[in-house]
Amino acid sequence: MTLEGVGHVWPNGTVLFDLVDRTFGEGTVTALVGPSGSGKSTLLAIVAGMLRPTHGTVSRPDGCRPLWVFQNPHGVARRRALDHVALPLLARGADRRSADVGALAVLGRFGLEHRAHARFAELSGGEAQRLMLARGIASAPGLMLVDEPTAQLDRATADEVNRAIGSLADSGACVIVATHDDDTMAACDDVLDLGRHR
Ligand SMILES: Nc1ncnc2c1ncn2[C@@H]1O[C@H](COP(=O)(O)OP(=O)(O)O)[C@@H](O)[C@H]1O
Ligand SMILES: [Mg+2]
Repeated sequence: MTLEGVGHVWPNGTVLFDLVDRTFGEGTVTALVGPSGSGKSTLLAIVAGMLRPTHGTVSRPDGCRPLWVFQNPHGVARRRALDHVALPLLARGADRRSADVGALAVLGRFGLEHRAHARFAELSGGEAQRLMLARGIASAPGLMLVDEPTAQLDRATADEVNRAIGSLADSGACVIVATHDDDTMAACDDVLDLGRHR
């Protein structure tokens, strides 16, 4: 996943960033930082292929499937945590039993094994956000885009999520996390600072 000379200017003339050259490696979690309005969410959309930048080129590996994890966790209220993570495994052809075993293992990586049988509506904010990360990982994306995972959380809850961030790339995904949380940034392997590309 490579950006070369990428810049974006909105039709109204607003210049967001320019000359971004970066290769996002597989198995790497990159923090995308910069002040509010610097274009972090816009760059995620460019990386995902949802938006064409006005300058530069974006090269994505063939068959690369981008997967988004949004700021506000959305799950199915009455479904168990386990079901949320088992679903992408079932969708990829696992039978129910092996999907449950696999989902439990993924939940364990995010410190949620003990909450496997809790319904989504019963999870705390930090648990729900970590479940969204676990569900994302279970669908084995080539590219995972995480937009402000701790923005809506109090400090203690954000710390829980930040502890899970580092393990996102364990299965070889290329992960990009837009954030303005210093602790989230510290949990990542690499940093791209849009504040330096204005
Ligand atoms: N379609 C658009 N046309 C013009 N400006 C836009 C459009 N979409 C977003 N913007 C502006 O681009 C800027 C960067 O937005 P965004 O990528 O959301 O930044 P960040 O995620 O870093 O806070 C904001 O000032 C926003 O108002
Ligand atoms: Mg944003």
